[in-house]
Amino acid sequence: MKNKDFFYLQYNKIDWKNQEKTKINSFINDYIIQNVILNQKGDSISIFDIGFGIGFFFKMLLPALEGKYKNILIEGCEPSRVNYDYYLKKKPKKLTVGVTINTHKKTFQDTETDTKFDFITAIYVFPHFLSEELENVVKKIYSMLKDGGKFILVLADEKYLEDKLKTEQDLFIEKRNITYNGRQFKEVLHYSDIPKIGKVVDYNRKESYHLELFKNNNFNLSHKENLDDNGFICTLFVFEKR
Ligand SMILES: C[S@@+](CC[C@H](N)C(=O)[O-])C[C@H]1O[C@@H](n2cnc3c(N)ncnc32)[C@H](O)[C@@H]1O
Repeated sequence: MKNKDFFYLQYNKIDWKNQEKTKINSFINDYIIQNVILNQKGDSISIFDIGFGIGFFFKMLLPALEGKYKNILIEGCEPSRVNYDYYLKKKPKKLTVGVTINTHKKTFQDTETDTKFDFITAIYVFPHFLSEELENVVKKIYSMLKDGGKFILVLADEKYLEDKLKTEQDLFIEKRNITYNGRQFKEVLHYSDIPKIGKVVDYNRKESYHLELFKNNNFNLSHKENLDDNGFICTLFVFEKR
């Protein structure tokens, strides 16, 4: 796949806004908030969400943080015009004192910010980056985190996806091997069929590839867990900046 813009442009043609009805990802969002983000001590917290879609995660995050922290910064980027404009229409009209929300209608690669964050999240967004871009994406995440800051990555579990692509063969598009650090890893391009939302094209790469990529860019894996979200199995990774 040579057209890297395809991966966000496809969201202009599907109904991601139906996430408000189906509540897809609310389980994993809540899990991240309760088990990772709210462990942050002190009065201040800052979070950057890569590919925030219609801002569904922001909407869950804000009430969970208010009352617990005095200074709250929520920032993120979303390049799909349709998703971003929907977020603008629905965003909170008034914010409590101490709360700031900054958004960028851009890809993560094109987003510019000088702020350093406690957390950066990418919830089902890495499958939309080309493997050629990933090294720079990870270096950018590193540069945007405070020392000891955490990067939270959510992907479909590789075994769950492998089985799904075996049973639903019309979802498979192509596969190839990618080389990283002298090692070869399998990469599969496929459709994901999301109920009431539509079909999106995703890349799936081996878990071992992601572990190697982050290790090589000065991150420690502090947590990894498979979670069952109503039959959909995802993997949650928490990487800490060294
Ligand atoms: C599966 S959706 C997930 C949205 C959101 N994270 C959520 O969980 O509801 C993937 C999102 O990534 C966005 N995206 C695609 N390519 C991107 C890029 N290069 N930089 C940032 N976001 C991107 C898409 O536009 C889409 O909104």
